[in-house]
Order: sequence, then structure tokens, then C-alpha cells
Amino acid sequence: MSSDSGALDDLLREDRRFPPPRDFADRAVMNDPSVYERAASDPEGYWSTWASELDWFEPWHTVLEWTPPHAKWFLGGKLNVSHNCLDRHVQAGRGDRPALLWEGEPGDTRTFTYAELLAEVCAFANGLKSLGVGKGDRVTIYLPMVPEAAVAMLACTRIGAVHSVVFGGFSPDSLADRNNDARAKVLITADGGWRRGSVVALKENADAALEQSPTIEHVVVVERGGALSAQTPVTMVPGRDHWYHELVSAAAPDCPAESMDAEDLLFILYTSGTTGKPKGVVHTTGGYLTQVYATTKAVFDLHDDDVYWCTADVGWVTGHSYIVYGPLANCAQVVMYEGAPDFPDRGRFWQLCEKYGVTIFYTAPTAIRAFMRWGDSWPGQSDLSKLRLLGTVGEPINPEAWMWYHRVIGGERCPIVDTWWQTETGAIMITPLPGLTETKPGTATRPFPGIQVAIKEESGQETSAGYLAITTPWPSMLRTVWGDDERFRSTYWSKWENVYFAGDGAKRDEDGYLWILGRVDDVLNVAGHRIGTMEVESALVDHPSVVEAAVVGKAHEIKGESIAAFVTLKEGIATSDALMAELRDHVGKKIGPIAKPEIVVFTADLPKTRSGKIMRRLLRDIAEGRTVGDTTTLADPAVVRRLQQMHEEKEG
Ligand code: WT7
Repeated sequence: MSSDSGALDDLLREDRRFPPPRDFADRAVMNDPSVYERAASDPEGYWSTWASELDWFEPWHTVLEWTPPHAKWFLGGKLNVSHNCLDRHVQAGRGDRPALLWEGEPGDTRTFTYAELLAEVCAFANGLKSLGVGKGDRVTIYLPMVPEAAVAMLACTRIGAVHSVVFGGFSPDSLADRNNDARAKVLITADGGWRRGSVVALKENADAALEQSPTIEHVVVVERGGALSAQTPVTMVPGRDHWYHELVSAAAPDCPAESMDAEDLLFILYTSGTTGKPKGVVHTTGGYLTQVYATTKAVFDLHDDDVYWCTADVGWVTGHSYIVYGPLANCAQVVMYEGAPDFPDRGRFWQLCEKYGVTIFYTAPTAIRAFMRWGDSWPGQSDLSKLRLLGTVGEPINPEAWMWYHRVIGGERCPIVDTWWQTETGAIMITPLPGLTETKPGTATRPFPGIQVAIKEESGQETSAGYLAITTPWPSMLRTVWGDDERFRSTYWSKWENVYFAGDGAKRDEDGYLWILGRVDDVLNVAGHRIGTMEVESALVDHPSVVEAAVVGKAHEIKGESIAAFVTLKEGIATSDALMAELRDHVGKKIGPIAKPEIVVFTADLPKTRSGKIMRRLLRDIAEGRTVGDTTTLADPAVVRRLQQMHEEKEG
């Protein structure tokens, strides 16, 4: 846990309280407090009630089968996710309702009604079929934030193919690793996307990845359009590469939705862990859809007149669950934006809120801290009066940022839902319910009804400050790690018997509220993105000049954490600023720009125990300029002093 205990005590002394505004509570989706007790006394019944709001082709016969660590939900049930997100609403007469309100970074716009989105999804699903994609096949999606990203995901679910979305900021190597691990058959990409006025040339990256992705048989390329496509030539390999628009226009319009078993795979999403190799988190169909549907409706208090905007990228789980599946399953009107928050200026998000009449806005603490630093005048220039609910996700939110969000963006009238969950949990797990929960800045408050958590010591003993654990199965839980069930068991289920280890530290206050304290493993959270220290270390060691590297997180005002790397060079290699820049770029190339270390400290030795284990705890102390803790177990205690000096010089 990176926070020092003084700051933590201050945090827990937070006594500002924000009860749900009366008029908000009166019309809230969830405003009966007995829901917590009802759900706790019969979780299976509770989740079944939510599941029965969806369309099932065949009903389930058993709600839950729990053979730890494997859970199956809604056994025997058959359904289709794209049917529930599209056909269901069109059949209910809501085909003309806007589904996606998309805006590109340059200001171009596209809108899809539910009927139009259904037609596009059907056509593209047929296009995928024409490339030989069928039920169970894996499809990699490497796209910018364009409507086709949602279309591609839904098209896969329609025919039972399993998607693996790879964030567009990942490098060719990272993309190839994911193609290979999933043994993906088709890759869907674009000529490029806009980011802060520059083109991200995705097809070019994809081509580099394809040189080392032997399982990919076909590539579909979306033409982003406008000036981007005019200035970004792509090389199409005949027989392998296909334009999206040509596939879609050649395809038959109707595509029946495949009847999927509740436990059929829906998607794989890779996330960083404590080894150098990201793991493919596996989600299935019925339980996942049920929990994202329920939490979207209840936590975001979705009503018919809402315009909902989640600023995440579809490449992360937040984009899967709260841009695509949860909102569309609820027939929401969803805003989707391609680009950066500060392009062409730092008011862009607020201009979008005004333009689309956004009522529900969901973003990350790192973004809020950046807005705060940019100043109140940017949001002040737009009319934000339609906003009625705000949300945050991805990392702990510091009370100062919470208060700013509440005051400046929420006009002191909007409840804030601080939602804790993970790629592995698939959906929100700990959160206020905005019509019921009195919030306090900095706490995610209580588990969602039907979810049970505990704070445990290593021994399994319950405590008020320790490891966050989830003690009963939940519908949208990960089912395994793709191709590595042993890793699934050892990562999440080996600390205690039949209890899920989340990897976070947490504390419970006197109101019973949960305060998430951050990761307790070697996983960093940089600007809300999960990065494994081992991955960055492997990327550094891959450079010909490097012998050894140790990577730690360092508190950062905006990003929450930034990456500090301690690097030992090969004999005879001189340290230089140029080499430092080269190493940072090397990590960017191996993993992606988000993983670039903020500082690189060259060192002849790393602090190690006598058994040779790198003491990251000491490196964290050094990186944060703190008094270094106990060094008696070090093989060479003098290393620490030398490192501190070097680090101080670096910081200036
Ligand atoms: C990790 C999961 C869930 C989508 C985004 C990240 C941290 C997430 C909160 C929150 C404190 C949070 C945890 C968690 N985290 N939400 N509201 N308060 N910490 O998904 O990449 O799987 O990362 O993000 O450390 O374990 P992810």
C-alpha cells in the first residue's frame, strides 16, 4: 500500500456527508433501503429477478452452481447479448431511439438509432461469417473510439464469436502477444484514429504485429474517414485484408442472433498481473450481461430521458461494461467521443456535455485531477445544468478531487457514485446507490446488493484494515484465465479457501463504509490503467544495454501513480540522457506509451536481500523521497544511500 498512514488517518477522518437530494431519491430506480437485506438473504433470487428482465430464448433451470473456484450462473439458460442490446428494444417499438451519439475529435458526428445499429451489426456479423468466423472463434478488435468498435463487439456476440479488444494505445508487440495467446483468427482494425490532433496509425501497427501473428487469417480495416483517411495510406494485402465498408455493403442484411448458452464465452480481455505476461480474463454470457445490466440501471439511475456518457475507451473493461453492454442492454442514449479531453482546448468535455445534454457522466479520478489543475474557467464556459449524476472509477479518488467534482461539475446538486470494480469482476461491486446512500468524499461506500465482501488479514481473520476479499460468487465474475486455469487459481483463490483475493487493500470505517487503499501486489495504477511492474521490467531488460531493472510506483499528482525505473547497465555502457530517453521509448515500443517510466535512475546495484530478492519497498521509499525503512536484511546496506543520492540529483 503506497499511502503513508498519516494521510490515511486524515482520509478516514472525513466527516463531510452528502445524503441523496430529496427530489433525486424520490424518482430513483433504487430508493427502497430494504433491497440490501432482501438481496443478502436470497442473493440467487435477487440476481434472478434482474436476469428475468432480459430476453432468454430458453429459461435457466439452476441459478448458481458453485464448485470453487468455478461458478456457473443461470445454467441451461440460452440468450444472445446483441439480441438483448438491440433486437429487444427494436421489437419493443424503440427502433428510432438514438443508441449511439458519436463525435470524432475533429468535430465530425454520427448518430445510430437502435434500428440502425441493429442493421449495421447484422451486416457486419454476416461479413465476419463470410470470412469464416463462427461460434467460439476469437476475434481481436484493435480500433479507435469509433462506432464500429461497438458494432464489431456486438457483431461477434451475435454469431457467438469471442472478442478480445486490445486498447489502441498498445504496441505491435503487445497486440501480437494477445493475438497469439488467444489464437485469434481475425483482426479488426482501422486506418487510424485521432488523438490530440495527431493520427494514431493503427493499421501500420497492426501490420507490424501481423508479422508475428500466425493465427490471423483475415484482417478487416475500418476507414476512419475524413482528413485522416485522406492522409493515412494503408497497404492492403490481397486475400487477407478487407475494407469494413466493402464487407458490410456486400453482406446480407439479416443475421439471426445465435442462441448462446449462459456459460458460453463472451469475451477475453487481457489485463496486467504480477508476472511479465498479461492474463486473458474470461467472461461468459448470462451472468455478465445480468450484472452489467443491473448495475448500469441501478448505479447510474437510468431513466428514459437520460443522456449517458462514460469517457473510458472500449479497450478497457469500463468501455466493455459501461459504454457498450450495460447501457445498450438498458436502451440508453450513449454518447461516445473519439479523442482527448484537451483538444482543441481544455473545455472539450464540457462542450460535449452541453451539446448532447449529458445527464450522467462517468470518468476517472486522474481526469478529474487534470480538470482541477486546468481551472474552473473551462467548465464554467459550458452549460452543465443538465447533469444530474456523476461517477468515478479506476482508482481511489482523493477527497479534494471529489469535492471539486461535486462543486464545479456537479453544481453541488449531483450525487457522485465512486464505483469499485475490476476487469476480473466484470461489473461494479462496491458503490453508492445514488438514491439511497449518503456519500462521503473518498469512499466507494458499500457493496452492491447481492455482493458480499470482507476485509481480511493474511491468515483469513476478518479485520478493519487489510486485504479486500469477495466472499461469495457473483454473476459477472471471471470464469478463468484463458488457457491457464492454474494461474486463475493461484492468483485469485490461493490466499484463502473459496474466497476471492482482489489484490487491493481496504479499510472499513465506523459507518461500515469501505475505503479502497490501492493495490497490494506488484501492479501499478497509472492514470487509471493497470500496469504490471514485471512487464515494464521485462521490457527494460529486453534493451541490449540493460542487465537488470526494478520498477516501482511513485505518487503522482495527476496520474495517481507514475513509474520509476531503477536500471543497471551492462559493463562499459555509459549513462547518458540520450540512453535514458532511449530506454523510455523502448518501453513505449514494447508495451505502449502508457507504460513509459517517468523517471529512470541508473544504478550499479539494486537493493537486494541476501537471498537475491529485489526489495521494492525500499525503492518505493527512495522514489518518493521518504525515510527508508528497515535495511538490516540487505546484502549491502550502502546501496540505499547511493541510490538516494542519485534519485535526489535526478529530482533536482
Ligand atoms: C483496479 C482494477 C474497474 C474499471 C477500471 C479499472 C482500482 C478501480 C476503483 C475505485 C479505488 C479502484 C483497484 C482495482 N480501482 N476502481 N472506485 N476506488 N480503486 O479496471 O484495470 O481491472 O483495475 O483499479 O485497484 O483493483 P482494472
